Amino acid sequence: MASFPRRPHPLLRHRNPVSGLVALRVLGALRSLWSAPAIGRPVEAHEVRTARLLLRPYRPSDEADWRRIEDDEAVRRGLDWPLRTARQVREHLIDRTAHTSLSQPGDLLVLAVELEGHVIGDVSLHLRTVAVETRVAEIGWLQLTAVGGHGYATEAARAMLAIAFGELDACLVTAVIDRSNLPSARLALRLGFRPAGGTSRYVTFVIAASEHQPAQPVRAASEAPTTGPETVDNL
Ligand SMILES: CC(C)(COP(=O)(O)OP(=O)(O)OC[C@H]1O[C@@H](n2cnc3c(N)ncnc32)[C@H](O)[C@@H]1OP(=O)(O)O)[C@@H](O)C(=O)NCCC(=O)NCCS
Repeated sequence: MASFPRRPHPLLRHRNPVSGLVALRVLGALRSLWSAPAIGRPVEAHEVRTARLLLRPYRPSDEADWRRIEDDEAVRRGLDWPLRTARQVREHLIDRTAHTSLSQPGDLLVLAVELEGHVIGDVSLHLRTVAVETRVAEIGWLQLTAVGGHGYATEAARAMLAIAFGELDACLVTAVIDRSNLPSARLALRLGFRPAGGTSRYVTFVIAASEHQPAQPVRAASEAPTTGPETVDNL
């Protein structure tokens, strides 16, 4: 049988070897995008009721509540968010409404936290790795300062952890927290996270599936400490 020399891929037919190499890299990147790993059945956002809260995907009609959140200086500081214009605030909300599914690394799922008909904050999960043996998600939380100190964020985050270790089947959940953000670090510790490393600016908290205790009783307000240390390292 006659054999014919194989023709190179059209992208690779370059006289200049450098542009050929670039084309090869582009092709490799596209190929890895096409075959990006994904979890078998995506986790889709849905309503969750807790003792006091409703968690559900954001809606464009949440604009007034969302504006209050973006106006909250402590929220912006905690998340390193800029002060946005009205239009940017609206666009940011619309962007948040679109994050409703976890399938591939980098996917984000956000649930708005509703108390008595108003959105007071949100909890989120970022899917970092998908292989079932090493599946990791990063949790996030934010809450209006005006409703702080009642355990709402803890309650919402606990519900999100249940999704992470239940529907998503994560083996590890992380929370990356600025060393100066004590309320956030205390929240992580209340949920059972432990510090596991980090950088000069951030502490990476982790909780493994085996450490997760779904039904922690809600702590009474009278048990709240009145004073505390000034950095995460002293907690
Ligand atoms: C991080 C953040 C959500 C924590 O808010 P919070 O009000 O401290 O959290 P909760 O609503 O869970 O309330 C817990 C506080 O109420 C007290 N509390 C009262 N009743 C409670 C109850 N039933 N259950 C649990 N805690 C209760 C707790 O003791 C705790 O106070 P403490 O931290 O002084 O011990 C909030 O500070 C925030 O949104 N910051 C800006 C955004 C941000 O930084 N996000 C994190 C980025 S890493």
